[in-house]
Amino acid sequence: MSHLQIFPASGSHPLPSFASNDPALIAAELAERGIGFERWPAHQELPAGASADAVLTAYAAEIARVQSRGTYPTVDAIRMTPDHPDRAALRQKFLAEHTHAEDEVRFFVEGEGLFCLHIDNEVLQVLCTADDWISVPAGTKHWFDMGSAPTFCAIRFFDNPEGWVAQFTGDAIAERYPLLA
Ligand SMILES: [Fe+2]
Repeated sequence: MSHLQIFPASGSHPLPSFASNDPALIAAELAERGIGFERWPAHQELPAGASADAVLTAYAAEIARVQSRGTYPTVDAIRMTPDHPDRAALRQKFLAEHTHAEDEVRFFVEGEGLFCLHIDNEVLQVLCTADDWISVPAGTKHWFDMGSAPTFCAIRFFDNPEGWVAQFTGDAIAERYPLLA
């Protein structure tokens, strides 16, 4: 189930001032801060473990709707599994606060991932689960946790996949906030 917690961005043991599982409330809180969040209807015909091509075909209409806004000419579908040999290194890669010159836009077909957004004096932790679409604008300070047993399939939208490189801020803020198990 999708979940949002909002914390202060300061303090050694920050406590959440807001928490909700309600997709409409989550979307509203995120929209106020410039973050896109939508729930897309599940494609029941898509079997668990479907190939990237099958995922992109199943969601062709939704992908076209996003692309009709004139952005993200490139899409792909990636899958992480709990037995992935590089799971620890891949998890570690995005656990520190960073930004990108490109928007980070994802749709979760299966599984989950935790987006942590540092916006002004707040940290928003968005647990994205199946059927969640999130759009994080370029330049937003954030980190991402896939957990120790990562399980997800996600569609990624890119302006330019080659330019999608993390710029680390050097701020250890991520260490003060909860992560996935
Ligand atoms: Fe990122």
